[in-house]
Amino acid sequence: TRQYCITLLPGDGIGPEILAVTVDVLKIIGQQFDITFNFQEALIGGSAIDATGNPLPEETLTLCRNSDAVLLAAIGGYKWDNLPRHQRPETGLLAIRAGLNLFANLRPATILPQLVDASSLKREVVEGVDIMVVRELTGGIYFGQPKGIFETETGEKRGVNTMAYTESEIDRIAQVAFETAQKRGKKLCSVDKANVLDVSQLWRDRVTLMADRYPDVELSHLYVDNAAMQLVRAPKQFDTIVTGNLFGDILSDAAAMLTGSIGMLPSASLGLGKPGLFEPVHGSAPDIAGQDKANPLAQVLSAAMMLRYGLDEPEAATKIEQGVLAVLDQGYRTGDIMSPGMKAVGCKAMGEALVKVLES
Ligand code: NAD
Ligand code: IPM
Ligand code: MN
Repeated sequence: TRQYCITLLPGDGIGPEILAVTVDVLKIIGQQFDITFNFQEALIGGSAIDATGNPLPEETLTLCRNSDAVLLAAIGGYKWDNLPRHQRPETGLLAIRAGLNLFANLRPATILPQLVDASSLKREVVEGVDIMVVRELTGGIYFGQPKGIFETETGEKRGVNTMAYTESEIDRIAQVAFETAQKRGKKLCSVDKANVLDVSQLWRDRVTLMADRYPDVELSHLYVDNAAMQLVRAPKQFDTIVTGNLFGDILSDAAAMLTGSIGMLPSASLGLGKPGLFEPVHGSAPDIAGQDKANPLAQVLSAAMMLRYGLDEPEAATKIEQGVLAVLDQGYRTGDIMSPGMKAVGCKAMGEALVKVLES
């Protein structure tokens, strides 16, 4: 039997609800594949602020560092929105990404045939969409210095963030992106704003340089405004997209809607070596928290990404992914992916249906 130590970070809002479903799924999968998951739970985000005053307690980071993989749900909520920046849930999320050096965030947007009608776009536009967004996660404007709200000489306040990338930061994410594209459709589109931003010019230059090492990958470049437009106009032109932290955040939410719901989209945040962190693309959905309405499938599929990319258990990952397809085939739908004639279920019932499918 293989043993893995998994740190669970339920976080806030719908986080605990979707993570509970996912743990049930992993327990079944563990039995079937002779894997023992040793789960340990830790605090992050708003719940950590309430308990300790710190959105990422040192203890949490230490537990994560000593585990084989980290499964995070979501953080954030109205309650903490007006605290000083260092005490915000989001600061805890950024700190764990930086603390584990998770510079590469893989965000697949794949349309499942069962959900074509849940997309807000026309069937012909989205059918067959299969995009991988490779988002740089520990640099760019999220982390650049200087940042803060400063007082000017006239006594007026001035808010500052800095978008910065070094060559080595660009090179390492570009390498992940080229390798990802190589294993997929061999097309890589790098998204930047090189017509305006110097940081983007350097980005484009480095990505272009690296292309020499991957002659089998076809590289293209788009400005981010055009990329946003192309994503909703003709998403099938994309295979792999590589971009910086902020552009990747925005484009991956847009790509989510191609697939029907952000409640379906998983992600993997990877560094060099263990542990990776696996989290849905969506947030804590405070508007539906505590109501058993959340779609747990993005979280469940994040666990599948954990098995595939973090633990090298591809068969177990495939089993989960097939289970998700099967419950959708059976017609189960949470509110976000509901369409006429389907069976409306909440978070828990979706989980139960999935467990049943996996057991059968
Ligand atoms: P959100 O992703 O939480 O919600 C956006 C919309 O999508 C909401 O209407 C929500 O109900 C819906 N939604 C999201 N996930 C869903 C799911 N699994 N099933 C059904 N519907 C779902 O984004 P937001 O409202 O902009 O942010 C809410 C909070 O979450 C904020 O505090 C934000 O900072 C935080 N956030 C955290 C993460 C993260 O933990 N990785 C990501 C994004 C936002
Ligand atoms: C995400 C979220 C986070 C981000 C926030 C909550 C810090 O939007 O994971 O996509 O911007 O990276
Ligand atoms: Mn986001």
